Amino acid sequence: MKAVKIGSVGLGRLGYEHARNLANLIPGCVLQAVCDMDEPRLRAVAEELNVPRAYTNFAQMCEDPEVEGIVIVSPSFLHVEQIRLAMEHGKHVFCEKPLGVDVPQCRQAEAVVERHPELVFQLGFMRRFDVSYAEAKRRVEAGEIGRVVLVRSYTQDPRSTIESTLKFAPHSGGQFLDMCVHDLDLVRWFTGSSIQKVWGIGGVFEFDLYRELNDADNAAAMVQCENGAMGFLFTNRTHAAGCNVETEIIGTRGTLRVAPVGARDLLQIVDGHGARQEYYPDFMSRWHDAFVAELTAFTGHIRSGTRPSDLTVYDGTAVSEAAYRCKESFECGKMLPIR
Ligand code: NAI
Repeated sequence: MKAVKIGSVGLGRLGYEHARNLANLIPGCVLQAVCDMDEPRLRAVAEELNVPRAYTNFAQMCEDPEVEGIVIVSPSFLHVEQIRLAMEHGKHVFCEKPLGVDVPQCRQAEAVVERHPELVFQLGFMRRFDVSYAEAKRRVEAGEIGRVVLVRSYTQDPRSTIESTLKFAPHSGGQFLDMCVHDLDLVRWFTGSSIQKVWGIGGVFEFDLYRELNDADNAAAMVQCENGAMGFLFTNRTHAAGCNVETEIIGTRGTLRVAPVGARDLLQIVDGHGARQEYYPDFMSRWHDAFVAELTAFTGHIRSGTRPSDLTVYDGTAVSEAAYRCKESFECGKMLPIR
């Protein structure tokens, strides 16, 4: 198998996970370079993972002729500029969600990707690479549950990680953009239809910081697609038992549920507290295999010179736009059409 040489930018919470996967778990992949503006962190990760090149300056990594593809795991407001720089230097790009922090930025990303049809571009909607979600999609496509009527999807981070969540909140883009993008992507993916109108609601139940940010610490949205199918989303950051992501797809002929109890495994523990199941402690462990699978797919596309046909830059724009409209709807208290 031909080796594919990757450079990765951003070595924070998720960036470190992706870098470790690229270095150790992706078949035929060489982690050739890493980049982070935090120099001590950069040096430590480069040494730990035995990475030949380390850059504090992203533009310099883009000039490295050894690097074929770039994985972008930097703060969301940097994504579009880094996509542009990478592609203008002839690099294939994998970019974490969200595509951009506003719709004009997403349109700029579309234009860059359109200018470079010879390069792979993939977005980090890793749920699509999770075995259970992929199986649900296969069954929906096979017509097993008839016509999809409603997608209900919850994304709840654990209370145990609230400290880092609160630090991240001011530059996260808000709950709808940061958390609900995955659920909005699932609504579009499972219904096969574009989101047409949204009604975002929510409130501050515990953390005043969210009030200062004009955001909610618990948020929900109802959405409707062009084909009439509906979506109901809920998100918060204080789930008691760990990372909970559960999805229900209701069709005219049946229902599919992914992780209705978001337990880590089938083990039931019976002790002085009663009978219980352990949850995944955080999003990293919940999605570990999906993170590996999406980057395996990315390096595979580079090797075969193909672009993912069903996960495009336009999906990134559509989902981001729906998320912004949810935020606007939450702010004005009205149901809003997607423009
Ligand atoms: P983080 O804040 O933990 O890490 C960001 C890293 O980027 C830091 O190490 C920082 O020093 C570095 N950085 C900042 N500016 C830079 C620059 N100009 N050049 C180079 N490095 C720079 O952020 P986290 O949580 O790892 O998130 C990163 C991205 O991944 C975000 O866009 C986030 O939305 C996305 N993400 C996606 C998830 C998913 O479920 N797919 C889960 C978590 C994050």
